[in-house]
Amino acid sequence: MDYLEIVGGQKLSGSVLISGAKNAALPIIAATILSDKKVTLTNLPNVVDIRTLLSLLTMLGGEVDHSETIAHINNGSINSTKAVYEIVSQMRASILVLGPLLARFGECEVSLPGGCAIGQRPIDLHLRALEAMGAHIEIKGGYVRAEAKDGLKGAKIIFDKITVGGTENIVMAAALAHGQSTIINAAIEPEVVQLCEMIRDAGVDIQGIGTNELIIEGTCGKPLEFKTVEIIPDRIEAGTYLCAGAITNSVITLNKVNNNHIRTSIDKLESMGCSFELTDDSITILPSKTLKPVNLITTEYPGFPTDMQAQFMAVAALAEGESVIEERLFENRFMHVSELNRLGADIWLKGSVSAVKGVEKLFAADVMATDLRASSALVLAALVAEGTTNVRRIYHLDRGYDDLEGKLTKLGANICRKKESK
Ligand code: UD1
Repeated sequence: MDYLEIVGGQKLSGSVLISGAKNAALPIIAATILSDKKVTLTNLPNVVDIRTLLSLLTMLGGEVDHSETIAHINNGSINSTKAVYEIVSQMRASILVLGPLLARFGECEVSLPGGCAIGQRPIDLHLRALEAMGAHIEIKGGYVRAEAKDGLKGAKIIFDKITVGGTENIVMAAALAHGQSTIINAAIEPEVVQLCEMIRDAGVDIQGIGTNELIIEGTCGKPLEFKTVEIIPDRIEAGTYLCAGAITNSVITLNKVNNNHIRTSIDKLESMGCSFELTDDSITILPSKTLKPVNLITTEYPGFPTDMQAQFMAVAALAEGESVIEERLFENRFMHVSELNRLGADIWLKGSVSAVKGVEKLFAADVMATDLRASSALVLAALVAEGTTNVRRIYHLDRGYDDLEGKLTKLGANICRKKESK
């Protein structure tokens, strides 16, 4: 198993290229199932989750030609509609194939994704919405078996809770359904917007893109023909590098970003004392020697993203004063707290609220990554901790950060990947 050895205290400088968004690419890859023709995707991030989902398409019989950032996919040859446990258990987002498989083939079996480190993460809202569209759903042997032999029917779906994956699954299902679907309380994350635009550009009438109410005219089962899709920049990767600038007090420029998508991270870092120079597709962080504390609550877009909570906690650990961070989306997304405390942070946790008392210094230790974003928070902390920190179990990082150590090395960090001795 690999781990990262990071010697803290290096000042960073220079620029970093932001990769395509993993969370945009995953539903877009799943959406290619809605087509029986070749689709080209560009600006894919070179991360494990993308390779996992592409390998699922191959297992279903699709043809995938993938090099680092480009994939040519032809799902005309799909001959199986079973997404097996071995793949789905590696990555929860595989559940995104449920809607498109059911919509195109009238049946499918997808392994239940189960819980994960950050919480239970049920899929009840996805399933209820598909049932409302006429699907017969059964859970058996750890699999969701879904059937809609005469095709899905357009329906009015009201999500009790805003769900990114649920919205994506139902948008894809509705695209090939018979009749009109309305999704109320839809997610409006940029990744959902890009998926809707891809489907709209394939000729499906979708009204309300970027709002909480989507109206979709299905094609009555006719597969779609997609244009080439260039994946949007990863707003979480961008936010993470801004945090790297803030925590190491370094001037860093991020290229190929969408600054509108990272507005909340910019605002929160501004409130901590950092300032920024923006162009159309780049941002430079001008950090502050001393950081003010920050209060934040994670919510759905355009609110503060839960996927940036851990990284901000690492930065807040060195602020002058006490920050309060509340996690509203996932019940167990504070596992980085104990690891940050091992590095000398002073964080107190009660339920979904944490109080982060800023300390003057962090000190190196052995720490363990627990989920994707928690891992990057540990890397950020290690960049400034005095001494050599080993961040273990970095397979979490490899799932979602494209060449993290390469990019940080280019910025001047002292970071290197090593193998655990057996
Ligand atoms: C997506 C992102 C993830 C991000 C999250 C919230 C991808 C691949 N992943 O995850 O990085 O942290 O959005 O922004 O895009 N819920 C239910 N029932 C359901 C579905 C969701 O109760 O059927 C709950 C979840 O447990 C959670 C909340 O709704 O508390 C939001 O989850 P959701 O938006 O669905 O997250 P994901 O799509 O899984």
